Amino acid sequence: MDKIRIRGGKPLDGTIEIGGAKNAALPLMVCGLLTDEPLTLTNIPSTLMDIRTLGELLTQHGSEVVVKGEGAGRAMTITTKNITSTTAPYDLVRKMRASILVLGPLVAREHEARVSLPGGCAIGSRPVDLHLDGLAALGAEIELTDGYVVARAPGGLKGAEVVFPKVSVGATEHLMMAAALAKGTTTLINAAREPEVVDLAVCLNAMGAEITGAGTDRIVIVGKDRLHGATHEVVPDRIEIGTYMMAVGIAGGRVFLPRARIDLLKAAVKSMREAGIAFTERDGGVEVTAPKGGLKGVDVVTEPFPGFPTDLQAQFMAMMTVCNGASMVTETIFENRFMHVPELGRMGANITVHGSSALVRGVPRLTGAPVMATDLRASVSLVLAGLAAQGETIVNRVYHLDRGYERLEAKLSACGADIERLKESMAAE
Ligand code: UD1
Repeated sequence: MDKIRIRGGKPLDGTIEIGGAKNAALPLMVCGLLTDEPLTLTNIPSTLMDIRTLGELLTQHGSEVVVKGEGAGRAMTITTKNITSTTAPYDLVRKMRASILVLGPLVAREHEARVSLPGGCAIGSRPVDLHLDGLAALGAEIELTDGYVVARAPGGLKGAEVVFPKVSVGATEHLMMAAALAKGTTTLINAAREPEVVDLAVCLNAMGAEITGAGTDRIVIVGKDRLHGATHEVVPDRIEIGTYMMAVGIAGGRVFLPRARIDLLKAAVKSMREAGIAFTERDGGVEVTAPKGGLKGVDVVTEPFPGFPTDLQAQFMAMMTVCNGASMVTETIFENRFMHVPELGRMGANITVHGSSALVRGVPRLTGAPVMATDLRASVSLVLAGLAAQGETIVNRVYHLDRGYERLEAKLSACGADIERLKESMAAE
């Protein structure tokens, strides 16, 4: 398995290109199941493992998935003339929990589907009850057998009012797609307000759907008999943006992020500003400058959008390990999302966990160590820690990073970081 080696202590200086959002691209790709015409997604981060896995899953359902172009000019076209299989098998679904999103669109178009219960990141129990209850409200009969969810709606899905007992990004997206082809009007109450939900609504509307209210907690979807093809540009990845902003915070220096948008992550930028990081919006992007006298300790609490994102919690905590003072980091979205804590501890961080809060007491310096993480954002937090640590850090299980960050080591080393990927054969030496 590949590893990443970082020799810490080099400030960053340069430009880092930001890609399209993985978490927006996944549901957008699933929209390809809703029409027999081509759906083209530009600014697609096509080399990410999660995008490839979903591409395989869609192909397995009968879609033709074609990627053309390179870098920021890449586009993926998904054409699903016919659904050839309504089963999403365990082998593909287990790799990524977002695969559950195909269930509703398949039932909407084919009136039945069978999807394996998902796996994915090892963060908490992560159930799918909100997805299934929502589809049941739209008239699907749902059964769980042999690890599969079987959903049937012989007469098609019917619009309904769905009140989510808890805010869920995935369930909101799932029901928006299913309701777009249902008979009648669906109202989603207590819906997620994430930018990826808004991006999905823009794409569905371009495909002929009638969706209003995305970005608020009440989304109304007027169902249509059919949707048509469209071309849509994927929104920039706010988690990638935040990760590189925090890389500058911990490593020091100054980096320009073209196409970065502060409005996508206002809460995180506010906390980073309080920590002393400076932001200047210019030339369609954001320049990020680390504070001269080190970072201040700042408390954060993760919340659904527009609050501080859980997907930046581990990176923020890594940054706070070297702050002046202390920081309390509280996780309210997922249980068991502190797997980076013991690994950061191995690098000299001083962190005490009490339930869902972690008290981080800043230390003057981290020291390099071999580390490993079991989810995507925890892994990247260890890379950030390695950028600031004295000596050599080896991050194992790099495949987690490949699920969500394109060319991470290339982007950082172009800004002066001493970071390289050790390929499997080299890593074994
Ligand atoms: C999405 C993001 C993920 C991010 C998360 C929260 C994608 C592909 N992934 O995940 O990176 O960390 O939003 O911002 O977009 N829950 C239930 N029942 C359900 C569904 C969710 O109890 O049926 C719970 C979850 O366990 C969690 C909370 O609701 O505690 C929020 O999860 P949700 O917003 O659904 O996250 P995902 O859509 O899976």
